[in-house]
Amino acid sequence: MTLQRQKVALIGDGAVGSSYAYAMMQQGLAEEFVIVDVIKERTEGDALDLEDAQAFTSPKHVYSGDYKDCADADLAVITAGAPQKPGETRLDLVNKNLKIMKSIIDPLVGSGFKGVIVVAANPVDILTYAAQKFSGFPKNRVFGSGTSLDTSRLQVALGKKLQLNPQSISAYILGEHGDSEFAAYSAATVGGRPFLDVAKEAGLSMDDLKEIEDQVRHKAYEIINRKGATFYGVATCLMRISKAILRDENTILPVGAPMDGEYGLHDVYIGSPAVVNASGIQKVVEVPLSTDEAAAMKASAETLQKTTADGMA
Ligand code: 2OP
Repeated sequence: MTLQRQKVALIGDGAVGSSYAYAMMQQGLAEEFVIVDVIKERTEGDALDLEDAQAFTSPKHVYSGDYKDCADADLAVITAGAPQKPGETRLDLVNKNLKIMKSIIDPLVGSGFKGVIVVAANPVDILTYAAQKFSGFPKNRVFGSGTSLDTSRLQVALGKKLQLNPQSISAYILGEHGDSEFAAYSAATVGGRPFLDVAKEAGLSMDDLKEIEDQVRHKAYEIINRKGATFYGVATCLMRISKAILRDENTILPVGAPMDGEYGLHDVYIGSPAVVNASGIQKVVEVPLSTDEAAAMKASAETLQKTTADGMA
């Protein structure tokens, strides 16, 4: 019996892409890893640099390649796109990055690639929607990093306040990965208890929780103002999502998921938890929302749909 080798294609070898490749290397995920980027010298250099880690991690064939090398990949992770500059919002990038997405999806699909596509370039929800349309793939096989990073930022912020491991806090950021996102506090739990009760006992008021939500929403700007870009956080989220796909885990993760009636939404990709496995999104998990949160979800979806319609017109 031959064991199946898993293959990942990384498209876009900037700071996010190379940090993701490094995280994948550390976790020993995927036996074959091809890196594609318009800047060949960079992918060649990264492949050589990453292969040096193998003496301490696990053997992997990591190389600089082309779209034809993506044909038999199980997963393609797309991080290519212009990044935010200080002062720019994610939505400001839409026109530039829609063109780049089209220039990626056409040769990727043309290669015969039949795996799962995960998108992480910004504005991620809109680019994911476009990637699914451009590819013609079923919606469950294309999804985005969505609010995975924002959710981890929320867990980290609440963990600090409650002196708990962030992983012990089940609380989601939902909506756009961007300025219209919100914290679904009403459904959050800690150790099986309603989060709002735990927060109250810890002396956190609703104003404190709003402030934490604002800080989470603005954290990317804080990082970009200081170091010009964000990459380790999102790269780790992408590694976690990849693991759920490659190991066929059926894990519930916050992602950018296609809506088919959940939250009353259709024809949009937006941040929500979903069951992730080898087929991509097995099922969207609809978080029960308060009236205000449901309105925030709807408003966030409208922002995305309007920007998508303008960008793709
Ligand atoms: C982030 O939230 C910029 O979308 C990127 O870190």
